[in-house]
Amino acid sequence: MSTRGFFLTFEGGEGVGKTTNLGYLENILQDQGIDLIVTREPGGSELGEKIRELLLDTRSDNINAMTELLLLFAARAQHISERIEPALAAGQWVLCDRFTDATYAYQSGGRGVAMDTVKRLEELVQVGLRPNYTILLDVAVETGMARARGRGELDRIERETMDFFERVRASYLEQARCNLDRYRIVDASVSIEEVRQQILGVARDVLSHWETQRSGG
Ligand code: TMP
Repeated sequence: MSTRGFFLTFEGGEGVGKTTNLGYLENILQDQGIDLIVTREPGGSELGEKIRELLLDTRSDNINAMTELLLLFAARAQHISERIEPALAAGQWVLCDRFTDATYAYQSGGRGVAMDTVKRLEELVQVGLRPNYTILLDVAVETGMARARGRGELDRIERETMDFFERVRASYLEQARCNLDRYRIVDASVSIEEVRQQILGVARDVLSHWETQRSGG
């Protein structure tokens, strides 16, 4: 029987450098011989990427909070069945750029949807699936938004107010505080090189988590 893979997620607000640092960690893990796939949410499957387009399109300006939430979980259901579960079952690692913690941060923290509503959908859609490890890249909202603006045109969600993103950040930090076993916070306010050093440290920690899981600890 092959060992089940490892589910690692990257989280954070806008402009924190998730994509770059996920790529960096991916290279480190591959150098260690880890067999992995990289994916993202919303998206990750063909249908999920179409839902992503709807969610981020600035013309979808009248989506209500519940519709948004259900679209996110619809994309997630497809992503889990089509990509995440098969990879984990085959013993691969899954590196995912955002997952349900983003829903707690954005839809619950940001939009004010009751946490219990998110929790009920999480249980329904994911059953027992939860990340084994989560890296939260954290930076002041002002700094992150300046970086996001520097990348070009803002999408529908990036156009939210600074207050919205302050609530998103607070929710992430609170989730990290409540899940110390799987969360690691990376200070993304420093130089790229210093962030890389932190990711290197996290990589060692991730590998030791994996060893513990593999040995049944
Ligand atoms: P990205 O820019 O990191 O790819 O994420 C796309 C946007 O989707 C980002 O603004 C965060 C948002 N989002 C939610 O609001 N809820 C979620 O559950 C997820 C996964 C993303």
